[in-house]
Amino acid sequence: MASSAIVTGGAGFIGSHVVDALLSDGDSVTVVDDLSAGDPARVAKQADLRVLDIVDLPALKALVAEIQPRAIFHLAAQASVVASVEDPGRDCEVNVRGTLNVVEAAGECGASVVFTSTGGALYGDEAQMPTPEDRIPAPLSPYGASKWAAEAYVKTWSLSSGIPHAVCRLGNVYGPRQSPHGEAGVVAIFTHHLYTDKAPKLYGHGKPTRDYVYVGDVVNALLSASGRSGTYNIATQVETDVATVWSELSKAAGKQIEPELADLRPGELEHSCLDASLAERELGWRAEVPIGEGLRRTYEALVAEFESK
Ligand SMILES: NC(=O)c1ccc[n+]([C@@H]2O[C@H](COP(=O)([O-])OP(=O)(O)OC[C@H]3O[C@@H](n4cnc5c(N)ncnc54)[C@H](O)[C@@H]3O)[C@@H](O)[C@H]2O)c1
Repeated sequence: MASSAIVTGGAGFIGSHVVDALLSDGDSVTVVDDLSAGDPARVAKQADLRVLDIVDLPALKALVAEIQPRAIFHLAAQASVVASVEDPGRDCEVNVRGTLNVVEAAGECGASVVFTSTGGALYGDEAQMPTPEDRIPAPLSPYGASKWAAEAYVKTWSLSSGIPHAVCRLGNVYGPRQSPHGEAGVVAIFTHHLYTDKAPKLYGHGKPTRDYVYVGDVVNALLSASGRSGTYNIATQVETDVATVWSELSKAAGKQIEPELADLRPGELEHSCLDASLAERELGWRAEVPIGEGLRRTYEALVAEFESK
């Protein structure tokens, strides 16, 4: 049934795909984004974009009271690990206070919240692979700590209000519209290097592994989690090393460029892979796009984006 939804961070990489999926289901969609990392060009014309900082509780409450959404997909965040180390105070303000504001505002109209947390920055290097949700988090960065703290507010507010809120701990998400200009998002960064014929740096000599999950699969998971209570890893359960990502993208590009090998940067994990069996059991969700296929699709889409700019 069509209804209204709010997507915080809807001008960002993942949020803009959530907006598109909701619109194609016939929902009316309001995007809340302060455009600190978002791009209004990513937001579909049919969505209503409100430029607003989620830290501003009165403004957020007024908007939620006006829209009366059925659901809030909460993706707005200070999403950079490096920025969280440089300014942990702002990271805390946006990711913890901002998330508390979202669940408080949601409580006034009974809207359920789906919160995007992190799988990659939460469990640390000592965890078994693939890591299940009940592993006690051991974040290495302020970003991981703020996401963990925010999760606690989401769960506490769900328990005390009786409104079902879900926490989705995402693996390393990749796909069209990801910016190649951040410190993360290795698929977008490598694609840009191939496009401009530059050699990339492969940190950890290309050996670190991640659980790369295609953005379309993540969107399906977030929609499936709406109206549910629980904490779910959203990932593929497949570990892929950075050197393989580079070689698959090179194949897609039809280019051979010798990468530079470098040591792992401080605070970076060696391995990350998430057990997503709970999401399969409870949400009926599993990742469908294999990494080779997802990388090919992403390469083509990102090159088309670079050429249109
Ligand atoms: N990309 C990944 O691999 C990944 C992995 C795990 C978790 N996540 C989480 O998923 C969510 C979306 O990530 P993304 O990769 O699309 O990041 P993104 O930076 O592209 O999107 C975040 C959006 O939030 C907006 N925003 C930031 N601070 C805000 C504020 N104070 N008020 C309103 N809007 C604000 C930004 O302008 C941006 O549009 C984030 O919560 C992130 O922590 C992402």
